[in-house]
Amino acid sequence: MKNFFLTLHMISMCLTIGTLFVQSLSVVFRLRLKSKEQAAGLEKIQSRIHKLIYYPILGVTIISGMYLAIHTGAFGKGSWLHVKLTLLAVLIGLGVLNGRQIKTDALPKKYAMMVHIAIFIVGAFMIYLATLKPF
Ligand code: HEM
Repeated sequence: MKNFFLTLHMISMCLTIGTLFVQSLSVVFRLRLKSKEQAAGLEKIQSRIHKLIYYPILGVTIISGMYLAIHTGAFGKGSWLHVKLTLLAVLIGLGVLNGRQIKTDALPKKYAMMVHIAIFIVGAFMIYLATLKPF
C-alpha cells in the first residue's frame, strides 16, 4: 500500500507544481495578448484549470502525503517534513494569488512574474527537502 501512495504522491505533486508553474506563466502571457476576445477565452481556460485540475490534484497530494507521513513515522524523523509543510502553506498562498491574478485584467507584469518565480523556487525547495531529507 505504501508503494501505491508513494506513486500517487509523486504523480500528483508533479501535476500540482507543474500546473501552478504553467498557470502562473500563462498569466504573464495573457498580458501580451492584443485582442480582448483572446484574453477572455484564455481567462476561461485558466479558471477551469485552476478549479477543476489544480485544486483537486493539490488535495490528492496532501492526502497521499499525510498517508505517507503517518505510515513512515516521518513526523518523528528529523524536521525536513515540518519545513516542507511550512513551504506547502506558502505554496497554497501563491496558488490563491495565482487564482486572483487569473481573475484580474489589468496587472503589472512584474507582480505576475514574481508569483511565477516564487512558485518555481518554493516547489524546487520542497522537492529538494523531500528527496534528500537533509535534516
Ligand atoms: C505540493 C506539495 C508536495 C510536494 C511537491 C511533495 C514532494 C515530495 C517528493 C518529491 C517526495 C519524494 C521523496 C523521495 O522518495 O525521493 C515526497 C515524499 C514524501 N512526502 Fe511529499 N510533497 C508534498 C506534499 C506533502 C504533504 C502535504 C505531506 C504530508 C503531510 C508529505 C509527506 C511526504 C512524506 C512523508 C514523504 C516521504 C516518503 C518516503 O520517503 O517514504 N508531502 N514528497
